[in-house]
Amino acid sequence: MLLLAAACLALGARPARAQEVRAPYTEQQAVVGEAYFRGYCLECHGAADMANESFKAKWHGRPAFDLFERLRTSMPDGAPGSLPRQTYADIVAYFLKLNGVPVGAMPLGADSLVLSRVRLELRASATTPSTR
Ligand code: HEC
Repeated sequence: MLLLAAACLALGARPARAQEVRAPYTEQQAVVGEAYFRGYCLECHGAADMANESFKAKWHGRPAFDLFERLRTSMPDGAPGSLPRQTYADIVAYFLKLNGVPVGAMPLGADSLVLSRVRLELRASATTPSTR
């Protein structure tokens, strides 16, 4: 273990760290993401499932890439990966909105490296939607 750490230091290798990006998506993107969610996901999930305490506890602090990749590789159930990458990113943006993350000027992209640098900052204070 120590040897590995020393080797990494010697090579100057640093693992990519997710950083807090305060506003990693746009309002418009969240609207688009919501439409996709209604079309592809709502038959099995309510929006409230994506902003409840267990969702926040599971994803808070992790890179946006983890959530994106979880969706892309397993959802919609029965047809994983069937949507364009940007559609998954737009749905993630909608989830950010549901979880009270502030909107910004740039949309969330579907590039893995960029997604891995965005840290999910899910707010407990977000208003949870009550209807499906
Ligand atoms: C046909 C039903 C079905 C559809 C459609 C579907 N899901 Fe799922 N989803 C499930 C089931 C069942 C699970 C739990 C099993 C699992 O984790 O794979 C799940 C799990 C999840 C989870 C994990 C929740 C957690 O707490 O980790 C997320 C997030 C999710 N779905 C998002 C989506 C999104 C986004 C879409 C639309 C693109 C979608 N699902 C479409 C059935 C569905």
